[in-house]
Amino acid sequence: IDPSIDLVDEIKRLKKEKNAVILAHYYQESEIQDLADYIGDSLGLSQQAAKTDADVIVFAGVHFMAETAKILSPSKKVLLPDLKAGCSLSDSCPPHLFAKFKEQYPDHLVITYVNCTAELKALSDIVCTSSNAVQIVESLPRDQKIIFGPDKNLGDYVKKKTGRDLVLWNGACMVHEIFSQEKIERLRDENPGAKFIAHPECEEHILSQADYIGSTSGMLKFTIEDASQTYIVATESGILHQMQKASPDKKFIPAPPNNACACNDCPHMKLNTLEKLYNCLYYEQPEIMLPEDVIARAQKPIERMLEISA
Ligand code: 13P
Ligand code: SF4
Repeated sequence: IDPSIDLVDEIKRLKKEKNAVILAHYYQESEIQDLADYIGDSLGLSQQAAKTDADVIVFAGVHFMAETAKILSPSKKVLLPDLKAGCSLSDSCPPHLFAKFKEQYPDHLVITYVNCTAELKALSDIVCTSSNAVQIVESLPRDQKIIFGPDKNLGDYVKKKTGRDLVLWNGACMVHEIFSQEKIERLRDENPGAKFIAHPECEEHILSQADYIGSTSGMLKFTIEDASQTYIVATESGILHQMQKASPDKKFIPAPPNNACACNDCPHMKLNTLEKLYNCLYYEQPEIMLPEDVIARAQKPIERMLEISA
């Protein structure tokens, strides 16, 4: 890249020229969030991907999110700034092993959390996100037997909220399993009046301390509507950018990890950079490609989710 060019201006120009839209997740770098046409949680992003009239979707997020956009808008060109931007949770559930697991429960319906591969979605009956998982389970008859995967923490949370007995896959997100209960308790003592808010991908012993549990959008909304001055935030640190922007006078503290070497940054999300975003718009590469039959089979469970949460 020519060092004299202004990447922000060039990205804006290319976006117009190519009729492209930039969809960004809250865990992206602040400078990418500031350039996006839409920033949101996984549900909001998939709703935007389904309804956009742009020719090109640049997905500033991770691979499974860009795949979901491709499944919902197969005729569009879907680009991901770095194809290596994966997801530890998605990796914790290889489709061939899940297919074997599913065979053990032939009378169960399969709900998969959107953080999984297109092949896994193709093996599912309904997809869900962290903002509608409870609603989706509750939309089903009480005696419906259900397999829920890949996130065991979200699964446990849904079990608790709905009182249903779900069969869980044992997967987890590397970012949401690092928080220290002890250090959070200490922080709360040091900041009396602070609210502790957490994402349902966190472990049960962390969630049990939370004043609010929800998706990234839910957490952001809570900090806007709630009257407290300080929040301890247990999720990826990228969301703090929007929280601080929406409430400049409030204080946001990332929840502390249990190990000094760990941090609340998702290494996959943070692979995307402004330079890669520019290159991807310029060269229209890397592009997300999926076999037609996978698109067709994965579309149904995602559309079922969008109908239930409409
Ligand atoms: P949401 O933004 O849907 O809450 O998802 C969080 C997440 O971990 C995405 O990778
Ligand atoms: Fe996956 Fe966790 Fe990163 Fe989200 S934060 S993309 S669930 S590894």
